[in-house]
Amino acid sequence: MATNITWHQGAVSLAERQRLLGQKGFTIWFTGLSASGKSTLATALEQTLLHSGISSYRLDGDNIRFGLNKNLGFGPEDRTENIRRISEVAKLFADASVIAVTAFISPYRADRDAARALHEAAGIPFVEVFADAPLDVVEQRDPKGLYKKAKAGEIKEFTGISAPYEAPEKPEIHVKTHEVTVEQGVQQVLDYLVAQNLIDGSKLVKK
Ligand code: ADX
Repeated sequence: MATNITWHQGAVSLAERQRLLGQKGFTIWFTGLSASGKSTLATALEQTLLHSGISSYRLDGDNIRFGLNKNLGFGPEDRTENIRRISEVAKLFADASVIAVTAFISPYRADRDAARALHEAAGIPFVEVFADAPLDVVEQRDPKGLYKKAKAGEIKEFTGISAPYEAPEKPEIHVKTHEVTVEQGVQQVLDYLVAQNLIDGSKLVKK
């Protein structure tokens, strides 16, 4: 724990930065089981935003665990620390006027609520998106063969099998990924962002 540290204020406020760059930053937080479609939706959303000239950057569970969080495993404490660090990083991107798009299982409600509180305290919008597919569907998809291994006991503490997933109670957006296409899921998110005046709908270009 660091002591004797002082916050150094920048010369450009959040509002001024947004005005100068012509863009508001915020965080879109995807949560859901492994193989629920978080990364697929986040990737497509990031692409659409960038093609529309809106700066966006994706932070993805598997990828971040190759670098920043490579010292963390999948026990409850490490998952909490994983989400805490990502919350801070997403907030930094959003503070820099970028749209941070995160795709992490983030199984604990308290950790997601902490991420939201961190953003809200800084005056930065936080949009939680539940990528929802029933367990039997994601087990069928099993693109990485992880559910099979988890059921065989080869992976411990696997979310949905031997570790909990606490579904969001009031996400801003609920995408039922077994009922809609990727395009429709992305459109659901974009419609919300436009309706909330978080992005300028007239900028959006179709892929
Ligand atoms: S989180 O629970 O801490 O938010 P995160 O999104 O970073 O998880 O990483 C999840 C990814 O790690 C999964 O998509 C899967 O590829 C891989 N993984 C490896 N072991 C596990 C496990 N025990 N539980 C869940 N995912 C795991």
